[in-house]
Amino acid sequence: MCKQVLEHLTADQPAAIDRLKALLAIPSVSADPTYSGDVAAAGQWLVDQLSAMGLDAQLVPTAGHPIVFARSTAATAPPDAPHLLYYAHYDVQPPDPLDKWDSPPFEPTIRDGAIYARGASDDKGQVCCILEALRAWLVTEKQLPCQVIVLFEGEEESAGQSLPVFIEQRREQLAADVVVVSDTAMWPGPDGPIPAIKYGLRGIAYFDVKLYGPNRDVHSGSYGGAIANPATMLARVLGRLFDDDNHITIPGFYDDVVPVTDQEKRRWTQLPFDERHALKSIGVAEPFGERGYSTLQRLWARPSCDVNGLYGGYQGEGGKTIIPSFAGAKLSFRLVANQDPRKIGAALESWLHSQDVGGCRWQVQHLGQAPPVLLTTDSPFVTAAKRAIERASGRPPVMIREAASIPVVADFKSILGLDTLLIGFGLTDDCIHSPNEKFNLDQFTLGCRTHAILLAELAAARR
Ligand code: BES
Ligand code: MN
Ligand code: MN
Repeated sequence: MCKQVLEHLTADQPAAIDRLKALLAIPSVSADPTYSGDVAAAGQWLVDQLSAMGLDAQLVPTAGHPIVFARSTAATAPPDAPHLLYYAHYDVQPPDPLDKWDSPPFEPTIRDGAIYARGASDDKGQVCCILEALRAWLVTEKQLPCQVIVLFEGEEESAGQSLPVFIEQRREQLAADVVVVSDTAMWPGPDGPIPAIKYGLRGIAYFDVKLYGPNRDVHSGSYGGAIANPATMLARVLGRLFDDDNHITIPGFYDDVVPVTDQEKRRWTQLPFDERHALKSIGVAEPFGERGYSTLQRLWARPSCDVNGLYGGYQGEGGKTIIPSFAGAKLSFRLVANQDPRKIGAALESWLHSQDVGGCRWQVQHLGQAPPVLLTTDSPFVTAAKRAIERASGRPPVMIREAASIPVVADFKSILGLDTLLIGFGLTDDCIHSPNEKFNLDQFTLGCRTHAILLAELAAARR
């Protein structure tokens, strides 16, 4: 099954790498409006590729960045075959700090068997795995084994709200049997990466929390000790977010948390995991977190809270003796099933307002949110995906959760009623969201082959 398709992928690999380079060269940074033309250009590049393969493809404008929407036709897929909905994102994180890159972020460069560029692993490399798998089938067999719908998003990295609206509006056109997402990483095994199917994602709720004091910066000698300093008050409140067990103190915060099962606990202890090594690679000496839970439990089954940024007061050279008029924090919560990001936002706001801040005033801005997801592990589609992965890589995948978030996965379930297969080919050292992001060419090859085989395996899956 699909021998010619795989042979074509091998023969065509140099051209596939050139295409990946072309996509990586387009700076589709969704967070920064100065790049919005480039985001659209990357979307158009994908539409052109999909159209050239024979799919019915269009770039759909939205209130934010456009959506790449394509589908197989009667000529390119059997009408009775299962229907797959592919999702990935073609936007990227901002590249800064630029001076930390060894080669420019939008000049894709191959060294040591990897391609370096912003978005190489997250997620353009994986977008191209899907693209090349579809292409290989269409070139060699003139038909795909499954009917496909392709949905590539241009605002995943910037909490865009256009995709849920689109999914809601196009429900009928998006009817499918299962969603396939490639935007995750493999598991770092002791002797090389182990393929993984992820069955859980954490959700997120994030905020800009600002505290206002005097109506202007004032002399800290004239007023120090006599009025509340918003920076000091903010720091104090942030400190109170955790108790001595590193438990989050907001009342009701854990109410909806689904406890980790004993079976999962057991499986996670058996997973090869060199915790010290993982931390050492980022220059951290020891794990830290909620008492009573292992690192993997903390990452996959427990919510967390992080200050992502702090601002306020004098930031320049030397000293400046003031009481600042305001201070703020970027604050994010990672959520687990069945926490509701809206409830968490409301709980945060009422908790902030219950704190004594010496007469300072709060302003809370909601920056974005995504619900957590837990996916089924025993559907015929999961079985087919396991087979495809084992055929492509020679080893069975581990079934694990993911600590990060992919917002749309919850929408696929709640709006379309669809389960998702999270199958990704990144590596933990790919430096996603960091300088020197890369995607190993071996991973690119594996991703293309796995997706090619997955099409055949899913076509054969019992529905
Ligand atoms: N691809 C990542 C999610 C991810 C990260 C999967 C690490 C596997 C390993 C995705 O692009 C991402 O960065 N998500 C954001 C979503 C947020 C901006 C709403 C996240 O998790 O911070
Ligand atoms: Mn991603
Ligand atoms: Mn990302």
